[in-house]
Amino acid sequence: MTYSSSTLSVPSSPAVPRHIAIIMDGNGRWATRRFLPRFAGHGKGVEAVRNIVETCANRGVEFVTLFAFSSENWRRPEEEVSLLMRLFVTALEREVGKMHNNGIRLKVVGDLSRFDAKLQDMIANAERKTANNTNLTVTICANYGGRWDVMQAVQKMLAQESAGNDAPFTEDQLAQHLAMAYAPEPDLFIRTGGEQRISNFLLWQLAYSELYFTDTYWPDFDAAELDKAIASYQQRERRFGRTSEQLVKQKKAS
Ligand code: IPE
Ligand code: IPE
Ligand code: MG
Repeated sequence: MTYSSSTLSVPSSPAVPRHIAIIMDGNGRWATRRFLPRFAGHGKGVEAVRNIVETCANRGVEFVTLFAFSSENWRRPEEEVSLLMRLFVTALEREVGKMHNNGIRLKVVGDLSRFDAKLQDMIANAERKTANNTNLTVTICANYGGRWDVMQAVQKMLAQESAGNDAPFTEDQLAQHLAMAYAPEPDLFIRTGGEQRISNFLLWQLAYSELYFTDTYWPDFDAAELDKAIASYQQRERRFGRTSEQLVKQKKAS
């Protein structure tokens, strides 16, 4: 199934966001505040993921996308990077069976070639096992970067184009090759941990997402916090370039 693009046509604005994308930030500071090692914060962060995934399913969200490791996070101390990789492996070992029983489809997107073979295998198996589940799609962005995504899409698009065809490329053609072409663009973007930046997350897909920033650290982000973000989203007027008057008129007519 392909979804319409927010720039090519005006999409619907569901009352409950169909797709929520989250930058899960603040694990390290959560731990440091408690005089714990940063890694304790990442461990707590996994628990928060479990809770938020369950809450999203209960609220009727169809896609939740979680930024777990960015293409720039390799710049962290080697020790922290390898601890994060190990945590990823244990989380997959523990959670995939449960997700499958709950009808959740798991996807992992990013440049996976940089992960070791065992982790790549586990990811492929988890995706295969859950591929036909329809309750909620959970996407983990791992070694993901928004620029990487656009670049790999351009490269695939160019490779597919037959020689001699000099018609200009379209947005639709490029979008088909983005790593998350299976999902609609996010309705709601959330960043925890107080920073107000995109940090090379979904650059293309966030074109018309509603942005929500909270100071709450990711390990403390619970169902009530998610409901606050959804309530904020529900207050927004999503104009997609139109005027407020146009929206009022449209509402009256329908
Ligand atoms: C987010 O928490 C998790 C990852 C980037 C892996 P951080 O580790 O960035 O936590 P802070 O920002 O240092 O508090
Ligand atoms: C963004 O968080 C990436 C993830 C949450 C995985 P960072 O903590 O790495 O972002 P910056 O470096 O503060 O922008
Ligand atoms: Mg951070």
